[in-house]
Amino acid sequence: MSQRAPPAPARSNARVPERWRKEVERILITEDQIARRVRQMSREIERDFAGREMAVVSLLNGTVMFLADLIRHLSVPLRLDFIGVSSYRLGTESADLVFTKELRLDVRGRDVLLVDDILDTGKTLSRVLDKVRALRPRRIKTCVLLNKAARRVEDVKTDYVGFEIPDFFVVGYGLDFGERYRNLPFVGVLHPRVYQTACPRIDSAETKKVKGRGNARSTISPLSR
Ligand code: XMP
Repeated sequence: MSQRAPPAPARSNARVPERWRKEVERILITEDQIARRVRQMSREIERDFAGREMAVVSLLNGTVMFLADLIRHLSVPLRLDFIGVSSYRLGTESADLVFTKELRLDVRGRDVLLVDDILDTGKTLSRVLDKVRALRPRRIKTCVLLNKAARRVEDVKTDYVGFEIPDFFVVGYGLDFGERYRNLPFVGVLHPRVYQTACPRIDSAETKKVKGRGNARSTISPLSR
């Protein structure tokens, strides 16, 4: 296996643009940091898949920006398809998974790169990996932009990780809360007041439990990925 750059820690002193200051507490990863790291990841993937035709399988909808940037820097032949996964979350917690789009691409005997936005508890990627493995690809490599290792429940193998992040609910660069914030060019920490506005009754109970963490996990709302 080729030499890999370790995942970058998420750290930035950049100021949240005025427009987003009420909703985004701070910027965790800037647009420039993302761009640099994604180019680096593309180079590593290109090296590892050299001489093979890749099948890129990406999870909807959170990977939209990451995927577009990642594959535009890949100069190896590839096929692309998507798996749609939706989860009804308990606020920022993911709950039951529903597949909203099945893979149409034939991956049997192929080299698959499975792309997701964030690896949190690992439940989503673990379910998707089982599904793709059943299709008998030659090999599967997993690629995530963000890794929140502190919250892992399922043991999921990651081959390419963009950034290690602390246990905050993050938005931007494809990641959403209630389908908003996907268009932010940076990854930022969502302000707890956003949950309070979304569902104040549940939030008041939940915020007590997580007081001091700075980023509550609360509210019940149906959120797609
Ligand atoms: P699990 O816990 O199954 O989570 O690894 C995977 C999916 O849940 C979403 N997720 C997040 N979305 N900010 C988001 O916008 C977060 O901090 C976050 N954590 C998990 C995401 O869709 C991911 O693929």
